[in-house]
Amino acid sequence: MTMSQPREPVVELQRRYGWPGTAALDRLRAVKRERGQITSADIDAIAAELHLPRAHLYGTATFFEEFGMHRRGQRHVSVCAGTACFAASQGRHIPAVERALGISRGGCTDDGGTSLQPVYCLGYCYGGPAALDGEQACAGPDLVDQLLGTAPRRDPAIPAYSGVAQPVLLAGILGGERSWRSWPHVVREPDAARRVVTEVAASGLRGRGGAGFPVAQKWESAATARTEGPRFLIVNGDEGDPGSYIDRLLLEGDPNLVLEGVALAGLAAHASRGFIYVRAEYPKARDAIQAAVIEARAAGHLGLDIAGSGHDFDVEVVEGAGSYVAGEETSLIHSMEGLRGGTLARPPFPTTSGLFGYPTVVNNVESVATVPWIVEHGGAAYAQLGVHGEHGQRLVCVNESFARPGVYEVPLGIPLRRIVDDLAGGLKNGRRLRSLQVGGPLGGFLAPEQLDLPLSGPALAAAGVSLGHASLLGLDDTIPGRAVLKHLWRFAAAESCGTCSPCRIGSLRGLEFARRGDLPSVRQICATMHSASLCAFGPGVAQAVRSVLRVYVEELEAGASR
Ligand SMILES: Cc1cc2nc3c(=O)[nH]c(=O)nc-3n(C[C@H](O)[C@H](O)[C@H](O)COP(=O)(O)O)c2cc1C
Ligand code: SF4
Ligand code: FES
Repeated sequence: MTMSQPREPVVELQRRYGWPGTAALDRLRAVKRERGQITSADIDAIAAELHLPRAHLYGTATFFEEFGMHRRGQRHVSVCAGTACFAASQGRHIPAVERALGISRGGCTDDGGTSLQPVYCLGYCYGGPAALDGEQACAGPDLVDQLLGTAPRRDPAIPAYSGVAQPVLLAGILGGERSWRSWPHVVREPDAARRVVTEVAASGLRGRGGAGFPVAQKWESAATARTEGPRFLIVNGDEGDPGSYIDRLLLEGDPNLVLEGVALAGLAAHASRGFIYVRAEYPKARDAIQAAVIEARAAGHLGLDIAGSGHDFDVEVVEGAGSYVAGEETSLIHSMEGLRGGTLARPPFPTTSGLFGYPTVVNNVESVATVPWIVEHGGAAYAQLGVHGEHGQRLVCVNESFARPGVYEVPLGIPLRRIVDDLAGGLKNGRRLRSLQVGGPLGGFLAPEQLDLPLSGPALAAAGVSLGHASLLGLDDTIPGRAVLKHLWRFAAAESCGTCSPCRIGSLRGLEFARRGDLPSVRQICATMHSASLCAFGPGVAQAVRSVLRVYVEELEAGASR
């Protein structure tokens, strides 16, 4: 029996009814926003409308943070509990917001007026602590005053800088360069799909979402899969790593670049339909990419018989519902099928059996946004852009603790020290860097002495951390190692999807042991999660925790023996 079997009857049912799954999140969201709570009768009605088994829809309604059992008030405030905001206020902003609004996290006032929900990252890591009041962002040290209305609301723009001679990803945002330059010509070429695959293979482009798989190879697997029926492309804009706001910048700042990349990637993968999955915590990004899709259809870049080529391809924007693990590709596919966001063992990989059982490519936003430049300038030209044996350029983002926080385009292979000291100006206000978190909660922490390491997946892996989605988050020496350790485990316990027991139980026990300062037990839990978890979340948490134990070893051991 394979792990995918329990899902198959539901997928079969959805194929029969024309794939209603993507509507499930929207229906549940609408009920929650209109009425504050999703009742059993609502689940029955939506399940009947979408021809989904009731039990499955119940799983979906209880899995995602946005739908959960807590009551939603007419005014709903989402306050960030992510690492950059934790670093900005040392975790003090959440109790302060609770006091100001008169409710505790997860709660709602008795009259249903105001509710407060902690979320992991809103993409304002350069200017936090942050909150969303409804869909209105507020960010900055005076967050509480902004929420109380005693200070003006601040929704700071994302600072973006080029650290290269020729930006590939920021050319539109910084230089106003227009998109859709390649697509109308390429789509009419007789062997267009092959050309896109060949150039991207020559460029050496690897996925920017974390796993670093060669992009062209993934497209080819889907295109050549021996499965009848359509192929799909899903662009992963779930960007859940607290500390990361690269995809938010691209989706909001240059949605046409992303869309042109989606069209080219869809062509290469032989996909007839593309989906862009945007996390619920990014309402501005959702609106920007949705508006760009409408414009692209009107301009004839998407739809039927594009530019007279005979090629059909359209794109749909799907909004997530607040789950970190939903960024993992099999969980993402589940959520788009209207199911709870549990993960699946692989193989089969999504390129063979993905959305509704059809071959599906899942690509990160930055991965597809790199493709138009490669197609225009050639794969060989892109491959030459890295330094010290690395190929290409990528975006990195640094958090609010630095003198110049923001997103930087840099060559792969550049030493981390060049980014954090020279480009980002070191920590602000003369603070001392105690550790640098690389690649979000599944990446890991480096000590300041390790910053000569290059921005390179293999080199960082050899040092026991992962580059992930390339966020760099500086923690100063006022934040104790014990607080960092507990913060990581709190995140793991809150976000574990619960499908496998090493991680479901391990993340809770890890938090318990970290609270007690029981380091040998923490190490033991890490060993189990590392070797026995189903998806990369468990091993990632274990790797990150082990790196904290290395970087803060003396301080943690001194604390444990007291
Ligand atoms: C727990 C977990 C969360 C993930 N979250 C994201 C995410 O938010 N965005 C993303 O692109 N990839 C995420 N990934 C990686 C995806 O599974 C997948 O590898 C990626 O979207 C593929 O795109 P790429 O090949 O262009 O990198 C996550 C993986 C795991 C294990
Ligand atoms: S490792 Fe964690 S997140 Fe991944 S499947 Fe297991 S429980 Fe879910
Ligand atoms: S906005 Fe708080 S961690 Fe990103």
